[in-house]
Amino acid sequence: MYCQFYGLKERPFNVTSDPAFFFSSKKHKEAISHLIYGVSQRKGIIVLTGEIGTGKTTICRFLLNHLGKNVKTAFILNPAFSESQLLESIIKDFGIAPKTKLDMVWELNNFLLRESNAGNNLVLIVDEAQNLKPNLLEQIRLLSNLETEKDKLLQVILVGQPELNNRINLYDLRQLRQRIMVRYHIGPLDNDEIKAYINHRLEVAGAQDRPQGHSLASDCQSKKIEFSNEAIDAISCFSGGTPRLINMICDRALLAGFVTETNHIDFNIIKRCIGELGSYSVKAG
Ligand SMILES: Nc1ncnc2c1ncn2[C@@H]1O[C@H](COP(=O)(O)OP(=O)(O)OP(=O)(O)O)[C@@H](O)[C@H]1O
Ligand SMILES: [Mg+2]
Repeated sequence: MYCQFYGLKERPFNVTSDPAFFFSSKKHKEAISHLIYGVSQRKGIIVLTGEIGTGKTTICRFLLNHLGKNVKTAFILNPAFSESQLLESIIKDFGIAPKTKLDMVWELNNFLLRESNAGNNLVLIVDEAQNLKPNLLEQIRLLSNLETEKDKLLQVILVGQPELNNRINLYDLRQLRQRIMVRYHIGPLDNDEIKAYINHRLEVAGAQDRPQGHSLASDCQSKKIEFSNEAIDAISCFSGGTPRLINMICDRALLAGFVTETNHIDFNIIKRCIGELGSYSVKAG
């Protein structure tokens, strides 16, 4: 709606986990490095946790596009499955067609061996893993047991909110716990990264190469969108550095700027938007 006014190609602060907008903050960079290390060194089970909206799914999607050619992946998004459904969807995602359901583990094992012999590394990524029931986590442990004398055949990345750790800490899952070789907990953006994050997203959405033509508003020439320092401070306070909350407030702020025909997003605009979104605030919550 406001894109034309600001001369943007698309909305910069969508709340989807589009990897095209990936901002390499210190913590996101560290998270990716841990995952790549775990996968490339065939460490077996890797766990990535983080609070709601900190960027876990975005990291998964970014990772999927940046793993080497010899890495094949299965990505499970909403693991509310039974044991056989989980296995089925892993197998489907790897592109294996089992003849019968009974064959599934056998087929998967053969597939992993074949791929391993061909020099490939297989990775299973399970997002929202905090929702996995203990029996499914145990099933995943059994899959990660598949190995040759030297290497794990399947690397498993479990991604989830901090409750995932509570699951893993259950007494019955101590075998799984012992097999977790790499862990990373992603925190919010630092205060000094928030401005860079906002600018990065604006840039990807085309804010820098916008034409100098007329916008929707009659007399308003497209100018650079500017967030004042006070506005950034207020966003930082509202969001606690959580990217999804930053996106929500910035999207609303751009709409408010469009309505009042200004490219300058100041403290008052943000304050008004925070008033409207207040109930989402981590600080206020
Ligand atoms: N490093 C990043 N670069 C760019 N955008 C990001 C980054 N991290 C998070 N975001 C944005 O923040 C929003 C939330 O990210 P995402 O959905 O990945 O969070 P999440 O941790 O998976 O949340 P949930 O716990 O609810 O599943 C998305 O719009 C995403 O694009
Ligand atoms: Mg997510």
